[in-house]
Amino acid sequence: MAARKIIIDCDPGQDDAVALFLAMSSPDELDILGLTTVAGNVPLALTERNARMMCDIVGRTDMPVFSGCDKPLRCEPITAEYIHGETGIDGVDAFEPETPLREQHAVDFIIDTLLAAGESAVTLVPTGPMTNIAAALQKAPEVLPHIDQIVLMGGAMREGGNRTPSAEFNILVDPHAADTVFRCGRPIVAMGLDVTHKVLSTRERVKSIAALGNPVAEATAGMLSFFDRYDTEKYGSEGAPLHDPCTIAYLLMPELFKLKHCNVAVETESALTMGHTAVDFWHVTDRPHNAHWAWDIDAAGFYELLTDRLARYQASNTQGNRGIR
Ligand code: BDR
Ligand code: CA
Repeated sequence: MAARKIIIDCDPGQDDAVALFLAMSSPDELDILGLTTVAGNVPLALTERNARMMCDIVGRTDMPVFSGCDKPLRCEPITAEYIHGETGIDGVDAFEPETPLREQHAVDFIIDTLLAAGESAVTLVPTGPMTNIAAALQKAPEVLPHIDQIVLMGGAMREGGNRTPSAEFNILVDPHAADTVFRCGRPIVAMGLDVTHKVLSTRERVKSIAALGNPVAEATAGMLSFFDRYDTEKYGSEGAPLHDPCTIAYLLMPELFKLKHCNVAVETESALTMGHTAVDFWHVTDRPHNAHWAWDIDAAGFYELLTDRLARYQASNTQGNRGIR
C-alpha cells in the first residue's frame, strides 16, 4: 500500500518533537509532505527553529518546513515555557539547524498542497493550536474535499483540563480555530487527555529508549527526562504524559486505540470554560457525529511501537546525513 500523505502542523514542544521522530522513522507508512509550525508552546520563531532542529537530528535536512501563524485567530497568545522550558525543547541543546525554513507561509503551503492533491488525498495532523489549519479552511474552503482526515491532539473529557479546569492547552490557546476544525465536516480523530494521560513516560520506558544509544533516541530520552519533572509533580504520576505522538501512533497502529464516534463541540464564549471540549460520548444530543474521540489506548503497545521505531535510526546515518527514507 502506498504511504499515506500527511502534513504535520506542530508547535515543538518536546512531545511534538517525539511525534516528528516517530513519523520520520516510518517512511513506508507515512509520506510527510511538509511540516508546518504555529505559535503555541513557545513563540513561532522557536517552534519553527525547533521543528528544523528535529529534521537535522534525524538527518532529514531536505524536509520542507514552513512557518505559520504567530498568534491565535482572535485570542491573545498563551505559551507554556513553565512546562517545556525557555526553548520549548529543553532536554536537548539548542543549535541553529541546517534544515532551511521555506519562504512560503504555512497556511498557503497547506492550501496549495491540498489543492494539488486528489480527493481525500492528504491527512492533516495538528499537534498544536489549530490556527494554521483553521486559517487555511477559512481562506480556501475548496480545500476541504482534498482532506482525507484530520488526526489531532487536543481536548479533554474525563480527564478535565490541563491549563484550566475545563480546557486542554491546544484548544484553549485557539478555541476559535478548534471550533472551525471540529465543524469542518471532514473525518476527525481526536486524541485528548483521556488517552494521552495514559501514555506515561515512566523511568523504565525512558531508560529503554536511552539504551538504544542512537542520537535520535538519546535526544528523545533527554527531552522526556526534562518534560517529566513538571507533570510528575502535578499529577503525582510516574512519568509525564506523551501527548502528541499519539496522533502518529494512531496512523501507524490504529488497533492500539479505542474510539467513539460522537459530537465534539468547542466552547468559545464563556470566560470560565473557554476552550472546553463538550464531548457527547453517550449521544445524549442529536448533534452530528463529527469526531472519533479516543478514550482508551494500549500504552505498553504504544511504547513498544515508539521504541522499535526509534531503534530504526540505529541503522541510518542520523544528524546531518541522509536519515531514513
Ligand atoms: C498539548 O499541549 C502542549 O503543551 C503539548 O505539546 C500538547 O500538544 C497537551 O495539552
Ligand atoms: Ca504540541
